[in-house]
Amino acid sequence: MNEKVNKFLTPAIFQSPLHMGPVNAWHGHMPFGFWCIENLKPKTLVELGSHYGDSFCSMCQTIKALKLFTKSYAVDTWQGDEHAGFYDDRIYLNLKAYHDVHYGDFSRLIRSTFDEALKHFADGSIDLLHIDGLHTYEAVKHDFDSWVPKLSERGVVLFHDINVHERNFGVWKLWNELKAQYPSFEFSISHGLGFLVVGKNPPPVALELCSLEDSDAEFLRGAFGRLGNAAILQSTVQEGRNSVRHFEASLQEKDNRIRNLSDSLEQRDLLLKIQAAKMSALAENSKRTIQV
Ligand SMILES: C[S@@+](CC[C@H](N)C(=O)[O-])C[C@H]1O[C@@H](n2cnc3c(N)ncnc32)[C@H](O)[C@@H]1O
Repeated sequence: MNEKVNKFLTPAIFQSPLHMGPVNAWHGHMPFGFWCIENLKPKTLVELGSHYGDSFCSMCQTIKALKLFTKSYAVDTWQGDEHAGFYDDRIYLNLKAYHDVHYGDFSRLIRSTFDEALKHFADGSIDLLHIDGLHTYEAVKHDFDSWVPKLSERGVVLFHDINVHERNFGVWKLWNELKAQYPSFEFSISHGLGFLVVGKNPPPVALELCSLEDSDAEFLRGAFGRLGNAAILQSTVQEGRNSVRHFEASLQEKDNRIRNLSDSLEQRDLLLKIQAAKMSALAENSKRTIQV
């Protein structure tokens, strides 16, 4: 491995993810998410679209592990959309319970639309923006155009789903337009992730990443791909364990019901036996009375 590639394999990328929900779409990018925090050291991180909070918590995990001074914000209505599906309050409440305990001292969940949240951020204030809301071309272009003034001179934008060509997803189309205008790096795994350097004075490592020679870039993509697969495997095992736990709980419930039913059958048998004994005693008595 050459020095140019070696310098991108920094310690945080080898962490194990701590928070993984049931949707694994972003899990393969977690090592690169770790890398972005470790190497860009953003003062302010904003995520548009958090759902179960997996991408966001992976970045918060790194901020906490490295004791960085990053302030992080996740914006979402936590109601869903036509691509992620619509969902109820439990997802937000579960995430908030986890997030606030682990990351609440430097991070906030902002429950609003992306447009409503714009007013809470000054122009030129965001170093790292992750856009992962609704994935139609019109929606993601609107999100990028409305948030780009908020980016600082160091600003970098991550786009998820640049490699999805179905169900009216259009991030790929915006990505093709943007990568012709700004330095960029991209992954095709896990629905694709785009890394776009928008700021005029970015961290040098961001530009170095974007100017890797093809063979080095391919090697690095392979290395992050392997680590990403390990993260996906971890969540698959975790989901498998959860299913086994649910299965065992429902078996236990069925066992309990069977035990209750057989207890009440035993009681009924006993009552029947008592009734039968009483009846035969009565019959015996009445036989004797007739004989007398
Ligand atoms: C694909 S999910 C985010 C997944 C998340 N980044 C992950 O992989 O861990 C998209 C989320 O964006 C939210 N969303 C979409 N459009 C939005 C908008 N205009 N304002 C607020 N939230 C929005 C949805 O509620 C949904 O939870």
